[in-house]
This record gives sequence, C-alpha cells and structure tokens, in this order.
Amino acid sequence: MSAHAPPIPMTAQASGPLKGVAEVPGDKSISHRALIFGALSVGRTQVTGLLEGQDVLDTAAAMRAFGAHLTRQAPGAWTIDGVGVGGFCEPETVIDCGNSGTGVRLIMGAMATTPITATFTGDASLRKRPMGRVTDPLALFGARAHGRTGGRLPMTIIGAADPVAVRYATPVPSAQVKSAVLLAALNAPGESVVIEREATRDHTERMLAGFGAEITTETTPEGRVITLTGQPELRPQAVAVPRDPSSAAFPVCAALIVPGSEVRVPGVSQNATRNGLFTTLVEMGADITFENPREEGGEPVADLLVRHSALCGVEVPPERAASMIDEYPILAAVAAFAEGATTMRGVRELRVKESDRIDAMARGLEACGVTVEEGPDFLIVHGRGAEGVPGGATCATHLDHRIAMSFLVLGLAAQRPVSVDDGGPIATSFPIFETLMTGLGATIRRDA
Ligand code: S3P
Repeated sequence: MSAHAPPIPMTAQASGPLKGVAEVPGDKSISHRALIFGALSVGRTQVTGLLEGQDVLDTAAAMRAFGAHLTRQAPGAWTIDGVGVGGFCEPETVIDCGNSGTGVRLIMGAMATTPITATFTGDASLRKRPMGRVTDPLALFGARAHGRTGGRLPMTIIGAADPVAVRYATPVPSAQVKSAVLLAALNAPGESVVIEREATRDHTERMLAGFGAEITTETTPEGRVITLTGQPELRPQAVAVPRDPSSAAFPVCAALIVPGSEVRVPGVSQNATRNGLFTTLVEMGADITFENPREEGGEPVADLLVRHSALCGVEVPPERAASMIDEYPILAAVAAFAEGATTMRGVRELRVKESDRIDAMARGLEACGVTVEEGPDFLIVHGRGAEGVPGGATCATHLDHRIAMSFLVLGLAAQRPVSVDDGGPIATSFPIFETLMTGLGATIRRDA
C-alpha cells in the first residue's frame, strides 16, 4: 500500500528499568512465504501466527489478485485456498507491494514462469530499490521485464510461456534473489539449480520441502547448491509462523542498554541463518540466557532472558553478515553504548535496503553525539561507554522501519530524548512495537 501517509513523528526518552515479557509478532519472511506457498498449493493451507504487518498484508492482496482465496479467520489465523503451481491468473490491476522488497521480489519470481503479465509498484522507498538482481535470473527462464531506468519499479513482468530450467549462481548474498529463482523454478520443467556462495536465510528451502516439493541442498566448495525439481503439486500445509527474531532484536537490545532491565523474550529463532545478532551480542558481553531450546513451526527456537549489561565493542566477522543483515541498524545503536569501537565490515547490502542503512545510521548516530566512520561496505561505531550517549536529536528514517525502531531504542538510554521524523513505517513489520515497548516500561510517545 504505497499511498502517501502523513509522517508520524515519535520520541523516546531515558526510561526506568524495562521489565516483563516481550511477545513479538510472527516472522515477516515466513509470513510472506506462507501466503505465497499457500497460493501455489492445491487445496487449503492454514496459517497461524501470521504477521499482520502492512508488508504481509500487501502480499496477501497480491495473492488475491493472482487468483488465490485468502480469508482471515481470527487475528493471525488465515486460510489460503491455492490455485496450484502455474495456476496464477493475470491480475486486473497493478500489484502494489508497498514498502516490501521481499514481497515484490518473491511474487515476481512466483509469476515469472506462468504466461501472464503483471505490473508491480511500491512506495517511494521500494521504487528506489534495484530489481535487476531478480529480473536478470528470471530472464534465463524466459520471462521479460520492462521497468524504469536502472531496473526500478514500476515494472512489468511478462511471464515465460515455455519456461526452461536454469542453473544460477547468485552474485549477491540475498535470500530474496535465491527465493525468486526457486519460485520461478517451480513452474519450469526439469531440475533447476541455485548456488549461493554464502548461506542466506533458508526459509524458502525449508517450506518448499514442507509443501512437498523435491528439493535438496548440498554444501560444496562452490557454496550451497540447491536443486529443485519443477512442476510439483504442492500440498497444502498447516503453517505455525514462529516469532520474528528481527523484531525480537529490539526489546532484547533495549533491555541490554537500559540500566536495571530484565526482559524475557519467548520463542526466538535460533536458525543459524538468522541468529548472527545474538552471537554478536554475547561476544560483546551481553547477559542473555537461552532457555527451553525446542522446535516451533519447523524452526529451532529458545526463550531469551536478557539483563542490562556492560558491553564492549567487537569486530563483527563479514561472513556473519547474511545471518544478521536486518540487525545492523539496532547493533549500531547498541554499539554506541559499548566501551570501544564496533566494526561492521562486508555490509555493502545495507546500502540497498528500505533505506541506505549505513548512511541513515551514520547520520543519526552523529546527530546523537556518537563518532562513526563509514565506507562503501563498512560502518564503525565508536562506543561512548561510561560517558554515555548524548542524544537530543531528530533522526531521519527514510521510510525505513528498522531505522525508526533503532533510534527509538537508542533514545531509551540516551541522556536527552531522541526523536524520529516518521515512525509510520514501523507498522510494516512490527505493528505492536509501541504498545509492547511501553508495556515493558519504555517511554515512547507520538509527537503531536
Ligand atoms: C529477506 C531477505 C533479506 C532481508 C529481508 C527479508 C527474505 O533481504 O533483508 O528483510 O525474507 O528473504 P535480501 O535477500 O535482499 O538480503
């Protein structure tokens, strides 16, 4: 939904100890996939714990436009009556994916090997983001794309009438690109192969196997080699969406920096392709206990008990980037409170997220009195340790939910209040952020 909404300025200020249980909503990546795989199955898929953030609602609307029937039975509980692989019909209107790179890229993949035409658009943030990384491999299947200069939205995809199987090595570490190729491969006869040098989140592979596709993953010297046999009949599933570790990151990090805090965050994914932030925080000296390890919705999870901690700066290994790619903004905020520098290298991909996240974090941290260094693919935050973070600034969020939440969390432990120019985009991924955080004792308000 890319209609221009009026900005919602918000302010966070130094708060008393955060206490309580933070039950974060469903995983955004898995929620998108549950709707798309449900739409590509024959029969009724039941989803519980679906994230009802705007990004996912936009994907739901898109699945309806392609012919699937989706019904919201109760909060987070949806049914999807799918049309089967290759069964998408041609949408009558433009598909508006709002703020969501995952939504638009996965859906482009899902329709690219069906002989239909669809036009995609999004909000001002999404219209700036590169789509060539997806349309290049989709062309190998026989699909054609016509977009704006630089491969930007709005863009029309003409699906391949006679798709062929492909072998594709992803040039960037991106689960969206990998997933778009796998979704396209679903309706191409024969075996398609995707190779990724660095492991990215593997929800597509796990869920495809769950929906009955023939898919294998091998770890080789070339990287992860994923082989998918095309034209399966996907079987509808009951999908229990686990909580989103990328949302859990915000109450976890807030508890670490607000003195006296003790917060429990249940059911946080321990999937190795998603848990890089928690590894990094422990290396920084975070007091986090991982309790009750178990499986939920096919994902390994644990309950986290997090206490305020004295943190020290670390060097984050570049090979960890893919497993915490969405968590660098909040890590940068936390790093401002640590003793010493935190160095984040190999993070070029941050420049093409909902905003240029290296630039957004660097400018906001500077405005809050924190020294940073940045380059094309690195960010170094010089932690202020015992001196504390001055704050007292308004940070620009550039329609980026994670930038907004990161600076609001920073404001909870800064010396002076920290504002963001627009907290509206928080609703794309974490609609209950404000209620959940204030429920723990955080002082966060909407400015008139
Ligand atoms: C996602 C993949 C990542 C991540 C995004 C969700 C996904 O993007 O940043 O929030 O669900 O596949 P890239 O694939 O561009 O790294």
